[in-house]
Amino acid sequence: MTFQISVADTEFRFPCEANESVLDAAQRAGLEIPFSCRKGVCGTCKGRIVSGEARAFAGDALGAADRAEGNVLFCNARPRSDLVIAPRSISKANPFARKTTPARVFRLQRLAPDVMLVHLRFPAGIRVKFKAGQHLNLILENGERRDFSMANPPRESDGAQLHIRHVPGGAFTSPVFNGLKRGDILTAEIPFGDFSLRDSDKPILFVAGSTGFAPIASIIEDMTIRGIERDMTLYWGARQRSGLYSDLPGKWAQNPRFKYVPVLSDTPEAGFRHNLVHRAVLEDHHSLAGFQAYVCGVPVMTQAARDEFVAAGLPENEFFADAFVTRAEVAASGP
Ligand code: FES
Repeated sequence: MTFQISVADTEFRFPCEANESVLDAAQRAGLEIPFSCRKGVCGTCKGRIVSGEARAFAGDALGAADRAEGNVLFCNARPRSDLVIAPRSISKANPFARKTTPARVFRLQRLAPDVMLVHLRFPAGIRVKFKAGQHLNLILENGERRDFSMANPPRESDGAQLHIRHVPGGAFTSPVFNGLKRGDILTAEIPFGDFSLRDSDKPILFVAGSTGFAPIASIIEDMTIRGIERDMTLYWGARQRSGLYSDLPGKWAQNPRFKYVPVLSDTPEAGFRHNLVHRAVLEDHHSLAGFQAYVCGVPVMTQAARDEFVAAGLPENEFFADAFVTRAEVAASGP
């Protein structure tokens, strides 16, 4: 059975089968709703059902308060009637923008005990357009995919620099640390995602957990190249000092409008804030009413940041997040 989905306050309409997700149907129709894990874990695809009835395929990360407000995760919602929906954002996909290409391992560098820089180069003559903050898919031989954000700015369009954190036992990340070598050829599809800088004069709060630093580095480098001047503060958090593995923040600090707050959550150390990274933001600001926030890290952090920042006055439409979800977390979320 086919239902019609309309997007509130837009001209967008698309058909959706009773057994497919609203997210899949939107993509089939050439429309892009933000997503990351596609498994009901990260919350990126959250939006509201304005009218009609939808049902979840499986358990997901939504809480009771969200459900009471009519919110759903579009990757996990299938229609039971025609629907009017209100996603956080929706846009027409550009079918020519995304490319699948071989990518050669050009450089491997251990940035921290559990973080590897994997610098990929595309074949000669191939340039890939992406926005600072977006990610790519690496396609494995068995067809599975893994998402990684580019840490390089879009101007460096002949390759992609990825910060890959070792997930113990991870089917992809373990070989990266133990077997991948210079010259190996991978397959990448690029770009994905809508985590990118929005036009505004508001001061920016960048909040990165561990390798959530990568897309934020791409955005800040891109702002520098393009001469975009805004007040910005980077809160970068890790459990231990080795997790803050880049000296780029020191370079960016030459800009008087850039401020850096390194945060450690395990052991206190002189020169580092001791807290959860998003809580360090709240320590410094009584109200977030005048800010934009860009937050990248594990879902539990991005979700807590969203809830607590909005409670501190941040307008919900000024909060942008990219949640990193490991395969283990997806598997733990159920079928
Ligand atoms: Fe739907 Fe992650 S994409 S919850």
